[in-house]
Amino acid sequence: MLVLGVETSCDDTAAAVLLDGRAVLAGIVSSQDGVHGPYGGVVPELASRQHVRHILPIIDGTLKKAGVELKDLDGIAVTRGPGLVGSLLVGLSVAKGISFRWGIPYVGINHLEAHLLAIFLEREVSFPYVALLASGGHTLLYSVRGYGDYLYLGGTRDDAAGEAYDKVAKMMGLGYPGGRVIDQLARGGDRKAIRFPRARMKKRSFDFSFSGLKTAVWHHLKARGEDAWQARKSDIAASFQEAVVDMLVRPTLAAAAELGVGRIVLAGGVAANSRLRERMEQGAREKGMELFFPSPALCTDNGAMIALTGHHRLKRGHRDDFSLNADADLTL
Ligand code: KG4
Ligand code: ZN
Repeated sequence: MLVLGVETSCDDTAAAVLLDGRAVLAGIVSSQDGVHGPYGGVVPELASRQHVRHILPIIDGTLKKAGVELKDLDGIAVTRGPGLVGSLLVGLSVAKGISFRWGIPYVGINHLEAHLLAIFLEREVSFPYVALLASGGHTLLYSVRGYGDYLYLGGTRDDAAGEAYDKVAKMMGLGYPGGRVIDQLARGGDRKAIRFPRARMKKRSFDFSFSGLKTAVWHHLKARGEDAWQARKSDIAASFQEAVVDMLVRPTLAAAAELGVGRIVLAGGVAANSRLRERMEQGAREKGMELFFPSPALCTDNGAMIALTGHHRLKRGHRDDFSLNADADLTL
């Protein structure tokens, strides 16, 4: 089965062609970081305009790279939510248009589900597994028990982990998005230099909270003054990152232990973080659990994970009609 995946939920325009749910024949991601960078965060109206500009050339380019034509496709999978409604509508409208013109079935995809399944593009993992999805918009913990069978375990009560990275990077004038920059800066810093607070949830709660940490960094910067903190930028980055990672690792391992699940999967942009990978690996090893994470390009938003999720829906006979709408607040 040949499936085209289309993703426009936030600020990346992406497409990929997937053969038989496994082989990515081609994938292109066009990032809008340069457009949103000066604002320190995604500007929704600019994002949808960029999608309108790029979506057709990207789909065209992906098909060419894969050496296939629209008429060869068995299905189209497109993100229908959650995300920015203007952005989602661009991808959804284009997918509907192609589906109508060429008579190709299409399915709307939940972006969160696609992140949870992205690992299958590279590895075989047995169900069930505990998945931590940490991105710019979400920090969620699920038990993945099968395709379409997801048990919610916890989520953030305020900011997403990636959002905390992006906001702290903005405070420190490091540009947008901030995750990768802080990850790199932290490599040269002392993780124990500053003891930033860790939000502690009640026992058996697998929730997260990052807003207190973000505020603590802000107070730290204010109290020191710019010259003083600029000189210790990498220590601040490393100490902040250690707090984020602590708050991600603890509930994830605790949830897996509580459920008696021996496999953990990381997903979302923050799963590309080097320290998170290192600490989660160490924690999983100590508990005798297996850890899986996709390569960085499959952690961040991409068309292949949408095509993969679509492949499984189409295989189960699922089809959507043209009344399907974008849903900015879609849940799993
Ligand atoms: O999954 P993604 O591409 O888009 C969303 O659905 O949000 O994730 C983007 C987020 C941004 O907040 C970015 O700062 C963060 O992932 N990120 C990282 C790293 N690379 C990207 N955060 C920490 N360390 C990284 N290496
Ligand atoms: Zn995402």
